[in-house]
Amino acid sequence: MSQHPHERMPAEAAEDSEQAPGLDFEGTTPYEDYVQADVLTHLQHPLSKDPGEMVFLVTTQVMELWFTVIVHEWETAAKALRRDDLPGAFAALKRSAYELQSLNASWEPLAHLTPVQFNAYRSALGEGSGFQSAMYRRMEFLLGEKSASMLVPHRGAPRVHGELEKALHEPSLYDEVLRYLSRRGEDVPAAALERDVTRRYEPDPAVEAVWARVYTHDPEAELVRLGEALTEVAELVWRWRNDHLVATRRAMGSKTGTGGSAGVAWLEKRAAKNVFPELWTARSHV
Ligand code: HEM
Repeated sequence: MSQHPHERMPAEAAEDSEQAPGLDFEGTTPYEDYVQADVLTHLQHPLSKDPGEMVFLVTTQVMELWFTVIVHEWETAAKALRRDDLPGAFAALKRSAYELQSLNASWEPLAHLTPVQFNAYRSALGEGSGFQSAMYRRMEFLLGEKSASMLVPHRGAPRVHGELEKALHEPSLYDEVLRYLSRRGEDVPAAALERDVTRRYEPDPAVEAVWARVYTHDPEAELVRLGEALTEVAELVWRWRNDHLVATRRAMGSKTGTGGSAGVAWLEKRAAKNVFPELWTARSHV
């Protein structure tokens, strides 16, 4: 039988006039049961002896966790739009914008690597590359950047492959936005509404015209606010890509990537793309 926490309070805690937190638990702490900190803090297995590798690994893991939360928020926003719950969609998109800011802030420990510092563990990474991040692909899929070939690297991991395949076949967040705009009476072309959602979304001048019209309204109008919430997300994703590009340029110049790409030259092309392109081009017509 466990004693009441106060009966075993250590001297220094007992001296405290305020009531101190409990110390005595039957098994693992309720904190551990919830957070699984013991699991989480024992998932770090550096591949080299370089002391600088730890922060590279942990930053990557931290980013994977942020990707996971952001995917959750965008899926929540997409589901909310499907049932015409605009406040629910706004709440999820707003949370995701704050999370994207935290994600982007976590570049800091890797943003200043010199080639010598990165080289100290780079070869230990083998062919490992963030390019193989399935959660990042799920983010891209939700943005409308679908690609069946991005499933190929995950053939050997059934759970990951299954989740990615499901995401490929589901309408993206942007598809749900266009369907919602159509239900609100906007003139979204049938081609955009009935498109094959497993393919990359291609910008459509008629959709650009819809956004241009929406944006003539008062900035507080619901659909303008929806456009702005998406623009915020788009800008922050674009910032992540550019921060990644600059960190890479600093750490390895124009060498080829561990994943086998041309490295910076390949990332430059990826980072140049706009997320939700019509939301940017429509501005020229307002
Ligand atoms: C200074 C550290 C880093 C360097 C030098 C670097 C380098 C690269 C390079 C060269 C590529 C292109 C693919 C390849 O050939 O490997 C790439 C892709 C990628 N990296 Fe990193 N990376 C770094 C840190 C990170 C971190 C911390 C993450 C977080 C998960 C990450 C996520 C990604 C993703 C998602 C891609 C694919 C991008 C796309 O498909 O457009 N990288 N990285």
